Amino acid sequence: MSWGELIWFNGKLVKWDEAKIHVMTHSLHYGTSIFEGIRGYATADGKAVAIFRLKEHMERFEHSAKLIGFKLRYTVDELCEAVVQTVKANGVSDYYIRPIGFIGKEEMALVPSTTELDVAVGVLKWGKFLGKAYYEGAKVTVAGWRKEPQDVTPAQAKAGGHYVFSFMTSLQARARGFDEAVVLDHRGFIAEGSGENIFIVKDGVAYTPPTYAPILIGITRNSVIELLRNELGVEVVEKDLTLGDLITADEAFFTGTAAEITPIVEVDGLKIGNGVPGDVTKKLQKLYEDIVRGKNSKYGHWLAVVNP
Ligand SMILES: Cc1ncc(COP(=O)(O)O)c(C=O)c1O
Repeated sequence: MSWGELIWFNGKLVKWDEAKIHVMTHSLHYGTSIFEGIRGYATADGKAVAIFRLKEHMERFEHSAKLIGFKLRYTVDELCEAVVQTVKANGVSDYYIRPIGFIGKEEMALVPSTTELDVAVGVLKWGKFLGKAYYEGAKVTVAGWRKEPQDVTPAQAKAGGHYVFSFMTSLQARARGFDEAVVLDHRGFIAEGSGENIFIVKDGVAYTPPTYAPILIGITRNSVIELLRNELGVEVVEKDLTLGDLITADEAFFTGTAAEITPIVEVDGLKIGNGVPGDVTKKLQKLYEDIVRGKNSKYGHWLAVVNP
């Protein structure tokens, strides 16, 4: 894992080690930031980077700002352009792209003199987020911590502070020797993974938690719903799922920008289906891989192709 050399910082490209802020910055103390995780894939000919669903990511960034109460000095189009410029400046590679908006003031009042965000974009050369689990399937545990309800905090905002919770569940899973955690909501229904949405497949139908559940409304999730319905002819139902539904499913998988489509094969030592990645999951992985690398022209409109 290594960073691209240049970072876009409030409108200028600067060297990685020059993109600095002070230790007394508001965001560092209170988690007052929003961010996105976007992937850019080197195209099959090795000449360009295809950024997956860039506009949808920057629209979610704008929505996250609105939900928390931050002001953005850039439009969605300007934010997309910032990402494109960052990728262009760093050259062709596979990237995990990280735009972040934060309160950059060195002020300790909870509500600082301005809620306008500083914005930066960095690019990371990052392989498979869950390592070999992408190929072999993830062994997951059920997190001890429950996701707080939508009327406590808006889960659909991708806000820095929310990720203290994701950190805790992720850490707990790793401490217990698992690849990832499955998180239940306050009602006991399945919400999502620490940093992924979740699907199960049972008797040929795919199910995923609904958007009223406390989940991040994943851009990969939404893309996968379309692909299951329109390309694989699999019915998709958005409904509350119990742990029992997951354990007795034929197959299950995570979706996310970082995790892409990662099969889930075990929950706390109990095998899902045969305990190996399922057929629908494997078909979806292949379809998704082709789409993100620009090999499937039908979904070319999901990609912003950048020629460095
Ligand atoms: C908590 C959480 N849920 C779900 C997702 C998946 O969202 P997306 O597919 O937009 O990356 C992520 C990752 O961004 C996440 O952090």
